[in-house]
This record gives sequence, structure tokens and C-alpha cells, in this order.
Amino acid sequence: MKSRWYKNAVVYQIYPFSFMDSNNDGFGDIEGIISKLDYIRNLGATAIWFSPLYKSPDYDYGYDVSDYKAIDEKFGTMEDFDRLVRECHRRDLKVIMDMVINHTSTEHPWFKEAISSPDSPYRDYYIIRKGRIEGANVIPPSNWESTFTGSAWERIGDSDDFYLHLFCKEQADLNWENPDVRREIIDILNFWFEKGVDGFRFDVFNMFSKVYPIQDDTSKDSFQKGAPYYVDGPRMHEFLKELNEKSFSLYDSFTVGESFHPSEEAARDYVREENGELDAIFSFGHLDSDNIGGKKFFPKPFDLLQFKDGFFNPQRAAYGEGWNTLVLENHDNPRCVNRFSINAAKYRYEAATMLAAVTYMGFGTPFIYMGQEAGLVNCDFKKIDEMMDPVSHFVYDLMTGYGMPKWLAFRFIKYGARDHSRVPIAWDDSANGGFNDGHAPWQCVNPKYPEINIKKDIESEKSVYRFYRKLLRIRKTHEEAVMGEIQEYDHENRRVIAYSRTYQGKKLFICANFSKHTTIYNFPDELSKYKIVLNNYQVDGRPARLPFVGKKGQKLILKPYQAIVLSYQP
Ligand code: GLC
Repeated sequence: MKSRWYKNAVVYQIYPFSFMDSNNDGFGDIEGIISKLDYIRNLGATAIWFSPLYKSPDYDYGYDVSDYKAIDEKFGTMEDFDRLVRECHRRDLKVIMDMVINHTSTEHPWFKEAISSPDSPYRDYYIIRKGRIEGANVIPPSNWESTFTGSAWERIGDSDDFYLHLFCKEQADLNWENPDVRREIIDILNFWFEKGVDGFRFDVFNMFSKVYPIQDDTSKDSFQKGAPYYVDGPRMHEFLKELNEKSFSLYDSFTVGESFHPSEEAARDYVREENGELDAIFSFGHLDSDNIGGKKFFPKPFDLLQFKDGFFNPQRAAYGEGWNTLVLENHDNPRCVNRFSINAAKYRYEAATMLAAVTYMGFGTPFIYMGQEAGLVNCDFKKIDEMMDPVSHFVYDLMTGYGMPKWLAFRFIKYGARDHSRVPIAWDDSANGGFNDGHAPWQCVNPKYPEINIKKDIESEKSVYRFYRKLLRIRKTHEEAVMGEIQEYDHENRRVIAYSRTYQGKKLFICANFSKHTTIYNFPDELSKYKIVLNNYQVDGRPARLPFVGKKGQKLILKPYQAIVLSYQP
């Protein structure tokens, strides 16, 4: 029987490259992570998700795995990893591994074998098709696009064959139709479970199943060409059920899938408990509320109504059916205080704490990305060459290739770049922000580290970190924060976001001013029944008394980015 421990969990995400470099070689490592486990535990986290630690040539920084059963040298050894698991468990921290199995690295032995000969048995581990003849040219088997720009097909040498890659060309998609592939994957999952890990985060899981035969995408409104043929494919549920039956269900595990623009129906089915697929998925709809059409490099003014839909819909869909996750940041997104049309220079503390309260009082397991808990900010990159993420370069090249001036293309990239959250963590104001002892890191540090770093945040009067601790404690002391049904209020309000969580008569009410304008909010219930349990505006270190106005004291004056959590206990 599964204990479903994840329902009460708080997950902290570590991107190992940039967390802590213990041997001063420029890369974060396992030893560095171990040295910070107490810090993570003190925050109130109860689990850690590690972005890939496996052997990889790093074309996509760990998301191109060349050996699923080995730890990459730059992070340490398998012995170090085993110790990491023990050190985590000793502190009651669960271990969640990233699992990247939509594709392997093209340096994986399976792929090398596959392309070594047309008769190789490994050929069928991948999706390899003949190109089409167009005049004197051989063109790709279909018009599908890679998520990272360009065709999703790469020619194998000078043959007429192409392999599919929905991401970099160094990440070849696996053929999940092949039962041998699924057997290998189950073996890999169980290898790690046997080592003591507690769960997995599945990378772009809803792309595992493709529509066959391969065909052109002729629809006009696809998110990207081919998406209808490789997102939520026909055998998705069957594949997940098989993994569940032969792996996850044998352990007291937590599995969470990173979804890529799933349909509402599929999203609900993936997490429905009785279906036996995944425990939860990540939905990112709310994070598209400040970009155009889900394309993160294209800014638009923040749209709170879109945020509300993206935030509440997955919660409503999963409630009573399965489980959900709550996300603001990860290694694929800029820092949250620099988003949503927020002026981070002026409102860093207020916005960071408001966003946390709004997000983590919701229904689902909180996921916190390293540094987010102390309000770390975007990096002020000066030129494209400072960015290591291949995607920043692909999109920059595409834009400039179309004739866009370089300065403008760079501005777009800076808006949505994944690099912002991937720079080394600023722990303090010592060399390289305390990431290491001064060796040049693999990716430049944020030049703001002397002013904005974790130590300084914790010591300052207005500390984001200390606010997170209080907030996360509410999930421990108030059952309704974990189990409560969610009800949204005043959906049409373009400044205030408000909702309640109700469980066995107890109620939490969350309301926040998601704007820089002081605003008056008509509280929809009898305000005097409630006690304040959290307020990001303080007086002398204590929550400020609520400023009521109106005859019955039913109106609240909310300052810029003010968030309050109220509790009603019958
Ligand atoms: C996921 C990962 C991202 C990676 C991509 C391809 O979206 O989060 O970092 O680049 O998959 O593996």
C-alpha cells in the first residue's frame, strides 16, 4: 500500500550544476549538496528533487543522458550519491530523481549502436525513418518542429535516414512502441528504487507516445508543428499504467510528470488515483500569463485573469480525483520576482512573499526552486555569450537570422531565458557568492550577489526566507491547507486574487493584491470570524493589524503586493 506521503510534502528542487561547489572546480556537486541539507530542512522542505545527476555530455545540461545508471563525474561518484540518500533520509528528506526518458543522449550506447548499422537491433529503440525525396533533395520524414526550434528530424550521416528529436539534435527520441525499450526503462527505474530513492519527476512525459504512421501536421493552430502527433499520444495511458504496475506501485513512491501543453481531459486522467498512472503532474498555464501564446521569449503585460485560470483550473480538476503540484519557478523559467510585470527593484520582498503565499496555500504539493525561498533575482546578463543554455542561442540565432537587430533579439532572450535561474546560487557576498572558493564557475555568477544573496536575506528585517518558513509551517499546522477544497472568489477582479480552502468546517482564506496600487477589497465573508495567520506587511516584526474600512469593517485595504492568510476555526 502506498502511504501517499507526498500529500504532506514540500519539495525543494536542486539544479546540481549551480547549487554548491565543494571542490572548487566550477561545478556544483553532491558533496556541496550534502553540506546544505540542514539549510533545506530548516526551511521546512521534506523532499528534494534533483535535476539530472546522471552521466551526460551536457548538450542540454544533464537532460541528455548517456548512462542512466551512472553519476556524472563532475558531480561525484556513486558512493557519494549513496551517502547523499542516507544523509537525506537521516533528516527525513525524501529523494526524488529526475528521469529523462522521452529521449536519450546521442552518446548513449543504444544510439551509437543504432546508427552503427541499418541491421542493428538497437535501431528500433529510436524513431528512424527514411527521408522524403523532393526534387534533388532528401527532406525530413515529416514537417514536425523541435521544441528547441528547427526541424525535429536529423539526418544520419549521408544516408537517407533521419532520427526524431523533439529537443536538441543530441537528444534522440526513444521508440516507446518497442517493448524492449519499456523493459529497459522499468529496469532503470527499479535500479534507483532499490538504491532507496523515493520517487521520480518525469521529464516531458506526455510526449512518450507518438501517432503512427508518421505524417505531416497540416493543422493551422498547432502550438508547434507536429504537437498534435506527439503530445498526449494514443498509448500514453497504457504506457504509464505499465510503468506503474511494474515499478512505481511496488514502492512507497511519488511520481510527478512534467507535462507539455496537455489537454484538460488527459491532464485529469494522468493523475486520477483510480487510474494508476502518475500521482501528479506539473501544469504551467499560470506562468504563461506574461508571455504571448505560451512562447516565453515574447513579453506581454501581465494578465491576472489568465494567471488565475492557469493556477486554479488544474487544482479544481485534480481535487477529489488525484493530486496536484504548485509551482512558481524551476530550471526552465526566469525568477518569479522579475515576472508578472513586477518591478523587482522596488517590490522584491513584497512580491516574492505575495507570490509564495498565493501559490503555496493552494491545493497540491509545493515545489520550491533553489534560491526562490530567499527572493533571488534574474541575472543581469550583458551579452548572449554569457548565457550557456543552448535554447537561448537557438532562438537568438533564429531571430537575428530573420534580420532582427542583435540588441533587440538579446532583449527578448533576456526576458524568458532559462539561464536566469541556472546561474550559481548566491549564498553570501564572498567570492562567487559563496558558491565556491573563487574558481570561475561553469556559468557566470549574478553580478548582483553582493546585494542580493541568501545570507543577507535571512538576516534582513524583511526576509523572504523567514516568510517561507512561516508559510510552510501553516501547511503543517492547518490540515485544511493540505486537504481543503478550493473555492475562488471575485474571479473578474484584475488586482486581487482570493480563494479559500475548506476542510471539516475549518477554513483558510487567502487574498492578495497582485498589483503595485493600493486597493480596497470587499471581503466576501464575516471578517470578524477570522484570525490573521500570515501577512507580508509587518510592524515591529509582527503582522500589521488589518486595515479595515467601511461601516461593518468588511473592506480590506491591501497595500502593493500585500498578501494575507486568514483562518477560521469553528
Ligand atoms: C524538460 C526539462 C528541460 C529540458 C527538456 C528536454 O522540459 O525541464 O530542462 O531541456 O525537458 O529534456
